[in-house]
Amino acid sequence: MPGRTTEDAAAVSHVFPIGSRLGEAGRLEVGGCDVVELAREFGTPAYVYAEDDIRTRARAFMDAFRARTEHFEVVYASKAFPCTAVFQLLAAEGISADVASGGELYLALRGGVPPERCYFHGNNKTEDELRFAVEQGIGHIVVDSFDEIERLERIAPGQRILLRVTPGIEADTHEKIQTGQVDSKFGFQIDDLPRALDRIKTLELRGLHAHIGSQIFDLDPLERIAAVLSELGDYPLLNLGGGLAIAYTRDQHPPEIEDYVEALLSQAPDGVTVLCEPGRSLVGNAGVTLYTVGTVKEVPGVRTYVAVDGGMSDNPRPMLYGARYEAELADRFGGDTACRIVGMHCESGDILVPEARLADPKPGDVLVIPATGAYSHAMASNYNAVRRPPVIFCSEGNARVVVRRETYEDLALRDV
Ligand SMILES: Cc1ncc(COP(=O)(O)O)c(C=O)c1O
Repeated sequence: MPGRTTEDAAAVSHVFPIGSRLGEAGRLEVGGCDVVELAREFGTPAYVYAEDDIRTRARAFMDAFRARTEHFEVVYASKAFPCTAVFQLLAAEGISADVASGGELYLALRGGVPPERCYFHGNNKTEDELRFAVEQGIGHIVVDSFDEIERLERIAPGQRILLRVTPGIEADTHEKIQTGQVDSKFGFQIDDLPRALDRIKTLELRGLHAHIGSQIFDLDPLERIAAVLSELGDYPLLNLGGGLAIAYTRDQHPPEIEDYVEALLSQAPDGVTVLCEPGRSLVGNAGVTLYTVGTVKEVPGVRTYVAVDGGMSDNPRPMLYGARYEAELADRFGGDTACRIVGMHCESGDILVPEARLADPKPGDVLVIPATGAYSHAMASNYNAVRRPPVIFCSEGNARVVVRRETYEDLALRDV
């Protein structure tokens, strides 16, 4: 993090979960729990969440809508972090679920989300997944292609659907997480919409959906979605997707949830039910990943490598699309030792933070990477046959494991 002063770094910034602080010994506390103690008790790597952070953001979405309209639904984009406990937590706050596979639907139902409050997305849902969703009584299927209209007419006549369209709005984000532009594998081109409507015979078309991308800071393109969709016809539902950015590094200042909701609603016609699908902005800053430093290797005249006990298997985002993160030692925030934080995998590209500054890192230190609550657990793999980390929820000083660490036996469970 070039330009960071030691004083800046010594504080717990807005990148960390709400309520995080440095305790008496200068150790990070998340959800009231000392993370060095958590690392001792549960081992590392571990995903640690402040439950109350997720709850606070969920309420901010619900309250911001409620203040403006009765006609809304906040739908959690569960691809960001699908696990039973988070579905339970969000369902209790009145939040619905966006699922993009049979597996996400299974977990949502297991977490107590009513099937009628689930929206099934995806550009290539299989026939088995569609049948499973219909058998479970799924509320809406977000139809993505002509092939899918044909498939659903055959297997689920009368099913309630939305049509996903690519509204031709480009968002200011990494091209790999842009989805609203015309050249996209997702949804129908606006010009193809009349043909899609023609093919619908028995399905009950309830509205349109668009999702223009992720990690979007500029509210202008998000504000335009409702206007573009409402010009395409009168429908009871408009689903405007997700995409609100979060702060991964302290120099990032995403819009407030209230301003985002205001932007979404500003161009929506009266009486229409407006849906949005936050993923990252509900859970991203709620989670941190704990690692243990194993090796500190100085390559003279080049750099210092700090190797931790995880890496691209628990967080592939830096390698997939250059995602930037910060890092701190859990008991010594700040510091000025320039280093590169790398994982333990057999790839030179297994770099979690290319340019970090830490307080004289040593083997045995607990290292924390904040803002890993979204798309980390969700994208984790068993590369190098590592056991995927546990998920630990913390609230008011109590920690509970909601997903356990994998065991070696788990790794062989599917072998025949
Ligand atoms: C259809 C849809 N809705 C919502 C989201 C959530 O996006 P975000 O996590 O940026 O809010 C995604 C992310 O890919 C998506 O594809």
